[in-house]
Amino acid sequence: MKIDLPTPVSVEEIKIDVREIEAILSSPPMNLPPWPEAQVTLKDGRIVYIRSIQESDIRPMLGYLERVMKVEKDFYDIVGVRVYGEVLALLRKRLKDPFTMVGLIDGEWLGFANGRVWDQDVAVSLHTLTFSRRARLGWPMYYAKTYYAMEILKVKEWWSTFESYNGWRMAGLAMAQPTKPFPQYQHELGGAKIFYLTQDMWQGRIKEFCKQTIGDDLNFNVSPEVRAANANFRVPETLDL
Ligand SMILES: CC(C)(COP(=O)(O)OP(=O)(O)OC[C@H]1O[C@@H](n2cnc3c(N)ncnc32)[C@H](O)[C@@H]1OP(=O)(O)O)[C@@H](O)C(=O)NCCC(=O)NCCS
Repeated sequence: MKIDLPTPVSVEEIKIDVREIEAILSSPPMNLPPWPEAQVTLKDGRIVYIRSIQESDIRPMLGYLERVMKVEKDFYDIVGVRVYGEVLALLRKRLKDPFTMVGLIDGEWLGFANGRVWDQDVAVSLHTLTFSRRARLGWPMYYAKTYYAMEILKVKEWWSTFESYNGWRMAGLAMAQPTKPFPQYQHELGGAKIFYLTQDMWQGRIKEFCKQTIGDDLNFNVSPEVRAANANFRVPETLDL
């Protein structure tokens, strides 16, 4: 848009370094504590290693997610395409204060969980995703990111929404999460209802319920064997959803 000038000026064009634009468009990051690596044993005996995403994981993940987003079943397509955007946003720095965890079994990427920090008081859950069905792997992944928000960041509230029936049943129904008034409050994922946990709910019931349902707790003393078994990240060869 161009408008006639209200005063004579010495210079009619100003050159802008795009790095200055980047400083305006991207917010200064909060100084988030790291997620300490953890291991948890599934009911089928397999040990999941949950660590923060690394930059070297991202390209292979995006390649696999291109396939996941084509799976027209159980909402894998919509979750796949949104997770693709969220993982790409880590590279492009277009997500405010994200935290992203991968769940590996013998190096194979089978679980995903992410969220981001709204402010000191609220963290927002984005997605949970598993590629090993009927193993209840979604539970420790959702538990890990909720644990990070409630125990490590110590936010007052944790806001989730659910795009799929399986997601809602796992964390919405089973954890008895109430909703914020709708449509006054809308989750950033498509304007859906916000389901939430407070510190009182988490400390009073949900943390213990998660441990019982998973059948194990997060173990932050990862054994050297588990760490070694997961040293080389790889995406699954097949897509068996
Ligand atoms: C939501 C999600 C993370 C839940 O994790 P999970 O409970 O480990 O995942 P599963 O889909 O394997 O299992 C969900 C239920 O469906 C059942 N199920 C899965 N595939 C099945 C099949 N082919 N036949 C019968 N039952 C099946 C499981 O046994 C399980 O029931 P149970 O808990 O009573 O055993 C996972 O379903 C997922 O990644 N879904 C796609 C992405 C998504 O919707 N994410 C959440 C968005 S907010």
